[in-house]
Amino acid sequence: MKRNGQQLLFPNDTTPSRPAPGFRESLTFKANRNLGRHGWLRLTPAYSRHLVERLIAPLATSDRVLDPFCGTGTTAMTCAEKGIPCDTVDVNPFLVWLANAKFARYQTAELQAATAFASNLRLANDGGTPWYPPIRDIEKWWAPSDLHTLATLFAAIQQAELSEPTRNLVLSAFCRVAIETAAVSFGHQSMSFQERTEQRSLTQWSSPEHLKHLFTKRLAEIVTAAATPIAIGLAKAFLGDSRTLDTVLDAKYSCVITSPPYPNRMSYIRELRPYMFWLGFLHDGRQAGELDWKAIGGTWGCATSNLMRWRPDGSINISFDGFNSMIKRISARSFVLSLYVHKYFEDCVLHFRSLSRILRKGAIAHYIVGNSRFYDVMVPTEEIYRDIMSSHGFRNVHVENIRKRTSKKELFEFVVRGVFTPE
Ligand SMILES: C[S@@+](CC[C@H](N)C(=O)[O-])C[C@H]1O[C@@H](n2cnc3c(N)ncnc32)[C@H](O)[C@@H]1O
Repeated sequence: MKRNGQQLLFPNDTTPSRPAPGFRESLTFKANRNLGRHGWLRLTPAYSRHLVERLIAPLATSDRVLDPFCGTGTTAMTCAEKGIPCDTVDVNPFLVWLANAKFARYQTAELQAATAFASNLRLANDGGTPWYPPIRDIEKWWAPSDLHTLATLFAAIQQAELSEPTRNLVLSAFCRVAIETAAVSFGHQSMSFQERTEQRSLTQWSSPEHLKHLFTKRLAEIVTAAATPIAIGLAKAFLGDSRTLDTVLDAKYSCVITSPPYPNRMSYIRELRPYMFWLGFLHDGRQAGELDWKAIGGTWGCATSNLMRWRPDGSINISFDGFNSMIKRISARSFVLSLYVHKYFEDCVLHFRSLSRILRKGAIAHYIVGNSRFYDVMVPTEEIYRDIMSSHGFRNVHVENIRKRTSKKELFEFVVRGVFTPE
């Protein structure tokens, strides 16, 4: 099926507002939950293996894919499963750790050691001195009894003599248990706190036996997924900034498949901070804000006060007709939000400048992006990406609307696709 003379990537979707049954879910994290390593840990804005499989269908093993916004590593995992090399970059060290743990090949002895750790685990009374992470308002996350058991479990992991691969499996299971026992729910775009009652805690997890049972179950699932071999060395995650890619990567890529943050004020730190504090990637709230300031579109903690001091770089031109008037209209309602949107797209320009230095001629890029709205001002992210890509060496840049994102009728997700043919 073609629309606007272009081959559609998702032809089964009759229209984005009236898709075939199950189509929307097949594109999001929800579709990954029962797919072995893909389901290890959720990130609400992750996309699905299915979506990546569609995009890599025309590729060969001689291609080299790049995902400059790794998240949970869906692109690289899917490529590796098909024998296609893929490098991926993320600014968040926890996600880089998680992705590399998912991409690793595990020896039988390492898997057995993880299972033995769960079997020998004692959480009641003699479980050792609990270790509590320095999370602010930690009582919002866990009921006191659950927190005590989690802290005892974590201390047991710290004290155990485990090889690094085994420890990574055990820590991944710990993260699953920590989030499943937390008083949070995951809405469409992000996470929110639940009204927690001691009763919920008492009936669900509070006994150490319950929590141990849950941990053993999750670890068994992770060990089963880890036992399925994956080609070594095809998927690699690097800690880096997508605005300076050539400082961490030295290959040239024939394809980009990625989903950058959207300009919607969603903060990745917000959802990831419990794992990051437990596992030692964060030690205080200030670090969380500093990391979010490095992330494109971040707004957590000091990221917002830094934004107030940020001013546009006059030398960066955002080649979208109407960009300045859109910023002015947002500014009339909120100056800080106008800075937020302006900086977001300046960062996109810096990303594409950096990307253009590491692409092979003829490379195909697929960007999954979502539009947003501030007050009555629509931010047509997909069109702005199309124009920024066109001014950075991409030709035939095409936008395809793939799904409606929320109940708000105007919010959609798009694939913006172009061929890199610099002059
Ligand atoms: C929408 S998520 C990617 C989700 C991914 N496709 C998946 O399936 O899990 C965007 C990612 O971009 C990362 N990110 C934000 N700013 C970045 C930057 N400047 N450099 C590299 N990664 C960045 C965030 O940490 C986040 O993991």
